Amino acid sequence: PQADDARGLTVTITAGPTREALDPVRYLSNHSSGKMGYALAAAAANRGARVRLISGPVALATPAGVERIDVTSADEMLAAARQAAGDSAIFIGCAAVADYRAEQIAAHKLKKSANDDGMTLKLVRNPDIIALIAEARINASVSESAAASPRPFMVGFAAETRDLESYARDKLERKNLDMIVANDVSQAGLGFGADDNAALVLWRNAAVEPGRAELPAQSKARLAEAVIDQALRGYRAMRSG
Ligand code: C5P
Repeated sequence: PQADDARGLTVTITAGPTREALDPVRYLSNHSSGKMGYALAAAAANRGARVRLISGPVALATPAGVERIDVTSADEMLAAARQAAGDSAIFIGCAAVADYRAEQIAAHKLKKSANDDGMTLKLVRNPDIIALIAEARINASVSESAAASPRPFMVGFAAETRDLESYARDKLERKNLDMIVANDVSQAGLGFGADDNAALVLWRNAAVEPGRAELPAQSKARLAEAVIDQALRGYRAMRSG
C-alpha cells in the first residue's frame, strides 16, 4: 500500500486529446488514449490527494475517488484548467492538446461540390494551456502573498522523436514549468496509445537533486506512481525553498 503522503493536497491533471470541430459532424483530433493521464490521476488519488481530472474524449473509466471534468475542445480545457488551478498544489498537463483549430466552425455540414478536387481549411493556433496557467500563477504570486496563493507546482510532458533532453529542457524553460516528463516516442511499443512508457524527468529548481531522473520502461500505472513521487519531491523542494 502507498503512503498517504499527498493527503491535503489538490492535484489537477489534464488528460486525453482535444477535439476541434470543423462543422456539426466533423472534427480534428489525435490518437491520445488518455492512459497516462488517467494512471497519474489514479496514482495521486492512491496517495491521498484530492484529484481533479480534466479530460478530453477518451474511452476510459474514471479512477476511484477522482473528480472528472469532461471537456471537448482546447478552449473548454483551458477554461476548466483556469477554474481548477487556483487552489491546486500541483498541476500536471498530460493532455495532447490539438495545436490548431478551424478558424471558423461551419454552422452547417461542409459540402463537397460536384467538381472540386480538394479544399483548403484555415486553421488558427490553440492556446497553450499549461503555459498560460504557469504564466498566470507567476503573476498571481507576485501580486499576492505567497502564503495566500502559492503557485501550483507545474508539471508538463514532452513527447519527442530526437534530442529528447535538449528539447525537453527548452520546453521546461519556455513554458515556465517546474518539472517536465520527457518521452522518446520513436521507441516502438512505448508512449502514445501503448500500455508501457519510459521517461526522463527534469526539474527547473537545481535544489531537486540530482536534477534529472531516468524512469525505465514499465507499465503506465507504475510509471505514474514514479512521476507522482518525483512531483511530490519537487513540490516539497519548492515550498521549502
Ligand atoms: O509544446 P508541446 O505540445 O510539445 O508541449 C507539451 C506539454 O504542453 C504537455 O504538458 C501538454 O499537455 C501541454 N500543452 C498544453 N496546451 C497546448 C499544447 C501543449 O497544455 N496547446
